[in-house]
Amino acid sequence: MSQVTIENITKVFEQSMSKDIHPRAREVLLSLVRHLHDFCREVQLTHDEWLVGIDYLTRAGQMTDDKRNEFILVSDVLGIESLVDAISHDGGENITESSVLGPFYREGAPKLGKDASISQRGDVDGESMRMAGKVTDPSGNPIAGATLDVWETGPDGLYEQQDAAQPDMNLRGVFTTAADGSYAFRGVRPVSYPIPYDGPAGDILQIMGRHPYRPAHVHMIVRAPGFQSLVSQIYDTNDPYIETDSVYAVKGSLMVDFQRAAAGSEVAWEVTHDVVLNRISTP
Ligand code: BEZ
Ligand code: FE
Repeated sequence: MSQVTIENITKVFEQSMSKDIHPRAREVLLSLVRHLHDFCREVQLTHDEWLVGIDYLTRAGQMTDDKRNEFILVSDVLGIESLVDAISHDGGENITESSVLGPFYREGAPKLGKDASISQRGDVDGESMRMAGKVTDPSGNPIAGATLDVWETGPDGLYEQQDAAQPDMNLRGVFTTAADGSYAFRGVRPVSYPIPYDGPAGDILQIMGRHPYRPAHVHMIVRAPGFQSLVSQIYDTNDPYIETDSVYAVKGSLMVDFQRAAAGSEVAWEVTHDVVLNRISTP
């Protein structure tokens, strides 16, 4: 093997790879290393700075467990999850836009009937809200039997797995559309909240002079046979952080207006949100 230099190390790395590695693994690894080597050369990375980077990644690993994934948070504040989402969901013209999944989704939320509430604690969970709409195909035909897996935080901005005071699976539920594609559920008006910022992801926000807040939102995954699953969110247009989401995930088409419900209604707020799913194209 030739002796490495600043100039040739990237080539030497490439040549050290076996010829028969998986083509996609080769493409991704080579590109990653090319960019990392270029980065070191461009900023003339010092040994002390390299150690800071190693320590940073070590702390991210040490903070990660089944309740908190610090690497997802780091990728989010760097805009990487949002970028990957945009690359992977190049939706058609009137398809509902996607948004990041984030680290707080849990499988196995309770399956609930139309109009049921995902809040298990009533007013303690926040101001009541009803969200309703239709799920259709791109031509406007209703999709019956689509499922909406929804989740949101309590009034303190914490998801149930972050908050010992909340019951298991609080503010999560799975709803199924009726024959006309309609769905409805009750929950709470979402609040803006800071992403966890007491670790390496927070360090980046601090270095950048940024706040850690996400504007108020409700998450959803919409699934239907024959259609591409959609990971998305709705965002409160009037939220003070709507323009400065700490994870760069807000899209104009996903911004909604929460309306005061009519007097006598069972809920305080109402919001409408229709969803258009893209068909899985057959070759
Ligand atoms: C969320 O909206 O749940 C979220 C997204 C990215 C990072 C942290 C939280
Ligand atoms: Fe969230």
